[in-house]
Amino acid sequence: MNAALQTQLDHLVDDLARHDLAVVDHFLSPDEVNDLLMLDAFQGDLLQLKRAGIGKDEGKQINEAIRGDYIQWIDRERAPAPVQRYLAKLDALRDAVNRELYAGIRDAEIHLTRYPIGTFYKRHLDQFKKDDHRKLSVICYLNKDWHAAQGGQLRVYPADAPIDIFPEAGRLVCFRSDKLEHEVLPATRERLSITGWMINQLAELRYL
Ligand code: OGA
Ligand code: MN
Repeated sequence: MNAALQTQLDHLVDDLARHDLAVVDHFLSPDEVNDLLMLDAFQGDLLQLKRAGIGKDEGKQINEAIRGDYIQWIDRERAPAPVQRYLAKLDALRDAVNRELYAGIRDAEIHLTRYPIGTFYKRHLDQFKKDDHRKLSVICYLNKDWHAAQGGQLRVYPADAPIDIFPEAGRLVCFRSDKLEHEVLPATRERLSITGWMINQLAELRYL
């Protein structure tokens, strides 16, 4: 692994252990971001993606009053090269949290995400009511030159004061899925990201 990534992961592990939350700027380089932005899922019509739902299995429903994003799940075997490169970095992240924090992560479930202008995701926790396999939420943003006035921040709610994180290109956010409530505020421009969860079982098993 290269030394820069190693340093970023050392900081991430420290911040996660201390605050249940870590923010890593420049996790992806501008070139890596550009390559991801070229993907059909980001360039093409929104209708090739799915409306994201809430809940799971038979309890699943679409509710625009709660979340308005469109998603495309990533199948690791078929993922194009720019996604593979991102997944390789997430593998390094997984190894770091397993080694340093005994996180017990075995797999990840990941989707490409688009929030159209004005859409949001209301305050929530990333664990499902009857399923606690999601251990870490990991989001990487792809929006160049994002300005605070454009909104679209991730607002995280630790015990003390809320923290706002803007979705600037290359920035990675990682937090405890079972602990930190959060929300996505509406933005005046489209908001793109790769959203994932590190889970403590194999992803395929969850869909049997
Ligand atoms: C989610 C989520 C946050 C973000 O997809 O569950 O909370 O900043 N995303 O996109
Ligand atoms: Mn969430």
